[in-house]
Amino acid sequence: VSKTYSITTPIYYVNDVPHLGHTYTTVACDVMARFKRLDGFDVYFLTGTDEHGQKVKQSADKLGITPQALTDKVSQNFRDLAHDINASNDDFIRTTEDRHEVACQTLWKKLVQSGDIYLGKHAGWYAVRDEAYYNDDELRDVDGKKIAPSGAECTWMEEENYMFRLSAWGDRLLKYYDDHPDFIQPEARRNEVISFVKSGLRDLSVSRTIFDWGVPVPDAPKHVMYVWIDALTNYITALGYPDINAEKFKKFWPADLHMVGKDIIRFHTVYWPAFLMSAGLLPPKRVFAHGWWTVEGVKMSKSLGNVLSPYDLMKTYTLDGMRYALLGLFPFGNDGDFSAELAKQKINNHLANGLGNLAQRTLSFVAKNAGAAVPSIGTLNADDQKLLKAAQTDMLVAVRDALDHQKYDRAFETIFAVVNDANIYIDTQAPWTLKKNNQPDRMNTVLYVLCETLRCLGLILQPFVPDTAGKLLDQLAVDKSVRDFGYLCGQYALKPGTPLPEPVGIFPRLMDDNAAQK
Ligand code: MSP
Repeated sequence: VSKTYSITTPIYYVNDVPHLGHTYTTVACDVMARFKRLDGFDVYFLTGTDEHGQKVKQSADKLGITPQALTDKVSQNFRDLAHDINASNDDFIRTTEDRHEVACQTLWKKLVQSGDIYLGKHAGWYAVRDEAYYNDDELRDVDGKKIAPSGAECTWMEEENYMFRLSAWGDRLLKYYDDHPDFIQPEARRNEVISFVKSGLRDLSVSRTIFDWGVPVPDAPKHVMYVWIDALTNYITALGYPDINAEKFKKFWPADLHMVGKDIIRFHTVYWPAFLMSAGLLPPKRVFAHGWWTVEGVKMSKSLGNVLSPYDLMKTYTLDGMRYALLGLFPFGNDGDFSAELAKQKINNHLANGLGNLAQRTLSFVAKNAGAAVPSIGTLNADDQKLLKAAQTDMLVAVRDALDHQKYDRAFETIFAVVNDANIYIDTQAPWTLKKNNQPDRMNTVLYVLCETLRCLGLILQPFVPDTAGKLLDQLAVDKSVRDFGYLCGQYALKPGTPLPEPVGIFPRLMDDNAAQK
């Protein structure tokens, strides 16, 4: 059996235009998906849109269109975004698809069969915006209104609801966390979830009668399912649930990684595993909660008008520049800030000056002085061997380990340390001096070591900055069929004498006016 890897983004609400936050989660998943594919895994990468709920209904009403028409339009924006940021997703799921209704209703029936769903009465303060009930002690009184911690206004609501017996799942969840120490990452989030569960779980209201834009509850025509049961089920719908014997389901469930923002960790690490276990299915192997972005130190919000559009970012920084900045500005898992100044600085330092210059200096020198072909190779000295070992052997091992822990920043550190070493190497070996001193053999060897180092860098950078890496590999005449990580080793090093194309810049330096972000 081949190794498999399945990864998901949250499905995005259709009440928003795609912004920096959505782009972040998708790019982080895309890097994982691409890395694993290149590393020999059979990968399944899923993203999509979350289209039900009262908010969507209300927005559609305001526009005088049907909710379906609204979601068709907005969902397409997210589909386009995935394409435009070079996401390599294998499927794009929409919760308004027929396949999803079947999956949700089947899962529901399983929960009923397990005795975990019962009909109850629910009364409480309800926030339409959050689609959630709040306890009295969570609310603030503002001008006679009840305001939730999220800032949403609540109204008193009484419904007959189906309830999920979450209160009975506490011990089993705690045992699952205990048996699977990596299930919730990072560690701080894991501790938060564990203490939340330890403090006691209440039963969860899982149907609504106050609106009808949702998946109908089987045999209860007045009820639609609570949006989170509906939304979470997307992950298995896409794999063909309820057909659990299908190839796809067997191969890719349980998911290796649900990537989510820290705001939705509870749904993914408490509710979702409880639903799954109740239905006789395995929980996902890992849920990683990343942090939230601010923009120039300020929370992103529509009312402040500082919501960053991925399209503006791509214009300013190029697509690969944006992909790099998203994962390179601060450690994944932390909250962080998007500062235009810092983004430009980092992109220029690493991609334009570090990598771009290394490639430019090496390849144009080779074009002029080594016959526009991969240079010949002589005896390797200790410096040569050291750089080659770092590039051909150690780099992949370290980056693989970093990504297995979603430590993108550590992956970049490893890669750009090699770039840095190679820049020091070219300066100390000084091929231009070797040329002047008429030492062509040594000059060629040095150039060879540099070209081969660039090949390794091009290969390892593919998941992160696919266009830039592709350009670099093209210039080294590395055939598309030999670009996976099986080739990232000395055995497949460049062959001396291979003709090389005319060198072109691989990453432009961002200029001041160019990077001025408003
Ligand atoms: N529809 C639910 C998810 C259901 S998954 C079964 C949802 N959608 S969302 O569109 O509101 O958010 C999707 C993701 O974008 C979340 O993981 C959220 O954390 C992320 N982000 C939204 N704004 C963000 C920032 N400012 N910064 C980082 N990520 C942010 O929640």
